[in-house]
Amino acid sequence: MPTPAAELTPRISTAIAAAFGDAYLGTDPVLRASQFADLQANVALALAKRVGVPPRVVAEKIVAQLDVAGVCSAVEISGPGFINLTMDNGWLSAQAATQSADERVGVPVQQTKTIPIDYSAPNVAKEMHAAHLRTTVVGDALARTLEHLGHRVVRQNHIGDWGTPFGMLIEHLLDVGVQSDEAGLVNTDPNAFYQHARAKFDGGDAFADRARSRVVALQAGDAETLQLWQGLVDLSKVYFNRIYSALDVTLTDVDLAGESRYNPVLQQICDELETRGIAEVSDGALCVFLDGYTGREGKPVPLIIRKSDGGYGYGTTDLATIKYRVQDLGADRILYVIGSPQALHLNMVWDTARKAGWLPNGVEVVHVQIGNVLGPDRKLMRTRSGNPLRLMELVDEATLVARKVIDEARPDLDEALRATIAPQVGIAAIKYADLSVAHDTEYVFDLDRMVSLTGNTGPYLQYATARVRSIFRNAGLAPESAVGPISIVQPAERLLALELLGFGDVVAQVGDQLEPHRLCAYLFSLAQAFSGFYESCPVLKADDAAVRDSRLALCALTLRVIVTGLGLLGISAPDRM
Ligand code: ARG
Repeated sequence: MPTPAAELTPRISTAIAAAFGDAYLGTDPVLRASQFADLQANVALALAKRVGVPPRVVAEKIVAQLDVAGVCSAVEISGPGFINLTMDNGWLSAQAATQSADERVGVPVQQTKTIPIDYSAPNVAKEMHAAHLRTTVVGDALARTLEHLGHRVVRQNHIGDWGTPFGMLIEHLLDVGVQSDEAGLVNTDPNAFYQHARAKFDGGDAFADRARSRVVALQAGDAETLQLWQGLVDLSKVYFNRIYSALDVTLTDVDLAGESRYNPVLQQICDELETRGIAEVSDGALCVFLDGYTGREGKPVPLIIRKSDGGYGYGTTDLATIKYRVQDLGADRILYVIGSPQALHLNMVWDTARKAGWLPNGVEVVHVQIGNVLGPDRKLMRTRSGNPLRLMELVDEATLVARKVIDEARPDLDEALRATIAPQVGIAAIKYADLSVAHDTEYVFDLDRMVSLTGNTGPYLQYATARVRSIFRNAGLAPESAVGPISIVQPAERLLALELLGFGDVVAQVGDQLEPHRLCAYLFSLAQAFSGFYESCPVLKADDAAVRDSRLALCALTLRVIVTGLGLLGISAPDRM
């Protein structure tokens, strides 16, 4: 089910070859939407230089050879040599019918790749903050989309479950008892627990000493210590899972692949790098010095893989993730959905892994950079900087604000229904706000804007689907029964069909470029095209039964495309709203 651009590109290439010879076979014309026609081909200007003929003449020669019978209803040359193409209504109708008959509504199945996706990665006994929220939401949308495109996605939740803070956390847990309310904080208000442990650590030598020996015992695999550590991790899992289920995120316990799991291989990694001369001891620490990484005054910046106190660093664990994902999981493509500030870290890890031969050229690694989320003061929304932001509270607040919006917009809906819809709308608002801007840019977290039923928001798209469903409810029909035949005639029908046909391409593009905001932009523009269609083309009051059936089929197709698209973003759409 080709989009107009995909249908026309090879036809124009063929015409170019026919007009100017085989040397030009495969010349890729640039096609873009135009205000004068459905599409505009911009190729004559570039070709004019190569063939030595004025651009308009080039365009004329291409058009003379162009076979678009049954595809375009008009082909015109405009300006200095643009080719304006208007799609044929019959062709649009047939394509829309094909899309409607396709259970995947035009989304292709790609050749399967194995794609581990590292995302979410909160830390044990710490609050998840806004940046964790964003990697979770973006990573989950990518996981859903790539899976839908036919890939084998392996979710990797690289939680921070190892390291020096566990000494003080375990000692604090021992002091208060696993069954205590204080221990319960780990899964309700982890920061409070963390800060209480921290205060004791900073406040007294005896506790700090215990904490330090506890880290040693943990590293040495002491059974009792490991059990206590596991207790902390388990409490945190409860907390993570509550957030994931509130946010409708697909991560579960089987996706946990935290720092601790790589513990057994870290020494071996260091040894291997050292014996092979890739790592060397510098100031007591085992370091990898790579070309091209220099800091101030040209001083080389090392990737430290073993600190002078013998502890392994974040970089060592991440080297282990590469080995595991390449060798054990058989990855073709590895995504790290991680904050932008970690770009240097990741690049050093990858370069080290390449040097060691652990990251073959055929395996693509991508840092899906996550930009900052800002508070209304345009400062970082952070936990550690004094003002604790609790993710669960954020979710609850979103639900509350959503409830107010629904109460105002739909006082006619019954109370129980409004109560069920509110969390769905609140979560959609948060997730869509994260997804609709490029993942590497920063944005201001503004609940009122995010929850609005107008504008480029999640709730607006949910509302659009509910409106389409209400058309069917009013007609006493199931959307699935609206199968046409589809006949595209009116300008607003044409615009809607042109949008609908673009769905598969956009989803494939999101899978390739890893940019969910393109799907958001697409869905928003589709919803607007639908509004335009619904305003100017009566559906239930259409002049005759054939027109009504055709328009109902367009409504049903629009509904399926938006619901499918929202689903790939991890957003559900209530039936009524
Ligand atoms: N736990 C880390 C944090 O909270 C993020 C880990 C990201 N993943 C990784 N493989 N380094 O900042």
